[in-house]
Amino acid sequence: MRVLDMEQAIPHYRDRVGLDQVGETEGDRAFFRGFDEFDRHSIILREADTPGLDVIGFKVASDRDLDVFKKRIDAMGVRTEEIPAGADPGVGRKIRFTTPTKHVFDLYADMEISDTAPMTKNPDVWHREPRGMRVQRFDHCALNGTDIVGSTKIFVEALDFEVSETVVDESNGTELAVFMSCSNKAHDIAFIGFPEDGKLHHTSFRLESWNDVGHAADIITRYDISLDIGPTRHGITRGQTIYFFDPSGNRNETFSGGYDYYPDNPRRVWSADEAGKAIFYYERQLNDRFMTVNT
Ligand SMILES: [Fe+2]
Repeated sequence: MRVLDMEQAIPHYRDRVGLDQVGETEGDRAFFRGFDEFDRHSIILREADTPGLDVIGFKVASDRDLDVFKKRIDAMGVRTEEIPAGADPGVGRKIRFTTPTKHVFDLYADMEISDTAPMTKNPDVWHREPRGMRVQRFDHCALNGTDIVGSTKIFVEALDFEVSETVVDESNGTELAVFMSCSNKAHDIAFIGFPEDGKLHHTSFRLESWNDVGHAADIITRYDISLDIGPTRHGITRGQTIYFFDPSGNRNETFSGGYDYYPDNPRRVWSADEAGKAIFYYERQLNDRFMTVNT
């Protein structure tokens, strides 16, 4: 993620969101992970002139899968690029591609395990006491762009994602938002239709409980963090959620709950006239900021 001022961004993500900072800042980049993540890092901040998202990575099960997925993406006429191991500290080789919505994705198979990873022998509930909002891990991003159907196609046809939920304008069949899963989570990535490509709607972190969503709200008010909306609940995924902004204007979400997704679940579909309830189940209406502000 791009941030305008690293000196403001680090305390936000480390002390308020509660991520652990990994290693030293390297050049213009700083590395973070949630306390319940095994891998070395899950969030990289880069200082830049504009906020937003450079790239989002997905870990695949094996190095061999990288070649399989590369072939499949190539076969769809989407250009791929191989990035050698070590471009990010502790990370193996990567396959990079850009979606029709102009979002850049990396696939990788190997990442070093964190020195403070969750314990595996007689494991305590945490290694170091969680801080701030006590986020367990990075969970997903929602991305804005025009051809969300084209971007979805890559994830479904080349990368074996399933569409768990959609919002559809039933008057003309246009998909307004698509939520996809590659796991038992209700979503691992979402694309939301928007007139401008390459935009980041939000970066989301997992909390343990609905009580923790309330605790996140306390922290947002105590430290005067810019609030978007919440605590509330989504109809889509059923997650309990609160949205706020980092000091650079990137939207963050912390959430708990949500249903377990299984690949044989039928797709859940929301009609546009119920989009309010789909996005904010309690308010039952969208707020302008949520629909128009992104980075
Ligand atoms: Fe989200």
